[in-house]
Amino acid sequence: MTKTLNWGLISTARITRALIPPLQVSKRNHLLAVASRSQENADAYAKAKKIPRAYGSYEALLADSEIDVIYNPLPNHLHAEWTIKAVEAGKHVLCEKPLALSVEEVDAIKHAAHKYGRIVSEAFMYRHHPQTLKVQEIVRSGSLGALKMIRGSFSFVLTREGDVRLNPEWGGGSIWDVGCYPISYARMATGLEPFEVFGWHVAGETGIDETFVGQMRFEGDIHAQFDSSFVIPFHAFMEIVGSDGALNIPHPFRPGVDETIYLTRNEKTESIRVRGGELYIGEVEDMADAVLLGREPRISLDDSRANVRVIRALLESTRAAMPVRLSRENF
Ligand SMILES: NC(=O)c1ccc[n+]([C@@H]2O[C@H](COP(=O)([O-])OP(=O)(O)OC[C@H]3O[C@@H](n4cnc5c(N)ncnc54)[C@H](OP(=O)(O)O)[C@@H]3O)[C@@H](O)[C@H]2O)c1
Repeated sequence: MTKTLNWGLISTARITRALIPPLQVSKRNHLLAVASRSQENADAYAKAKKIPRAYGSYEALLADSEIDVIYNPLPNHLHAEWTIKAVEAGKHVLCEKPLALSVEEVDAIKHAAHKYGRIVSEAFMYRHHPQTLKVQEIVRSGSLGALKMIRGSFSFVLTREGDVRLNPEWGGGSIWDVGCYPISYARMATGLEPFEVFGWHVAGETGIDETFVGQMRFEGDIHAQFDSSFVIPFHAFMEIVGSDGALNIPHPFRPGVDETIYLTRNEKTESIRVRGGELYIGEVEDMADAVLLGREPRISLDDSRANVRVIRALLESTRAAMPVRLSRENF
């Protein structure tokens, strides 16, 4: 397969910096253009990052017929809108997490992707890393026995004034920003969807949840607990506990090149080393596999829909101050 995919960045969001190195080294992907709301900004960014084309509007980027894939790292409330516009313009889309802020938005993305025959996948980069694949292999091998309890955290101190994550109208809040990771991890590890959730939050000054604490119940008496926060110094881990063993993952969401996870069985702990790679290359190559080789993207739209559904139920639970049950329909 000799075709190279031309990528366009929709905005100069900070996270685009993470995608540029993989796009520039990948043999099947090429970073062709960047767009910003201002031409001046786009020009400066393109010059600094050696990107051949710069557009002063997102519409102009979508009108470039040589662009195959759009990377959408806009603020959360614009994910669905611009993903759908990109698909309607004939582009495939790698969209940042959370893919959307409601199940209805995910359904609209799915409808557009189907109608225009384009691939859309959520940029949960950790899912493609060899460490995550190793964790899935261990859980599925049965070494942990029957799964019982999953715990996880993701927090950091958010100090930037006016950050998009602080705006409640824009999908701000710690659960949308970082809580989505341990939720996604627990769903991935169990291979199940929770049937009941319960959440508490601490509201920040702008009304977003600055800390979120949640619980999820799965069939088979499996429970998951997680927390996310903008006021707790960087802290992240996952722990998967079964009837025969426990797996500790110290760097679950931003794994590096050389990682170790810990498998404890019969009171003995085995260190398992995992050679990783550049964190963000996986999602770029997964997109190329999907577009060029016709493979299913690792993160399907149904998977993203289920994650959004759980987050919405957890938010509803904090408002109602009671557990929320999720029906089995529409998983
Ligand atoms: N997977 C990961 O590791 C990871 C890490 C960080 C963030 N993220 C995700 O990436 C997304 C962006 O996060 P970020 O921290 O990179 O955001 P950011 O630096 O605040 O950038 C957001 C960009 O959106 C554009 N934009 C369009 N309308 C806007 C508006 N009304 N107000 C502000 N900006 C607007 C701006 O680009 P222009 O001015 O160029 O148009 C801005 O630079 C979020 O969805 C977040 O969840 C993912």
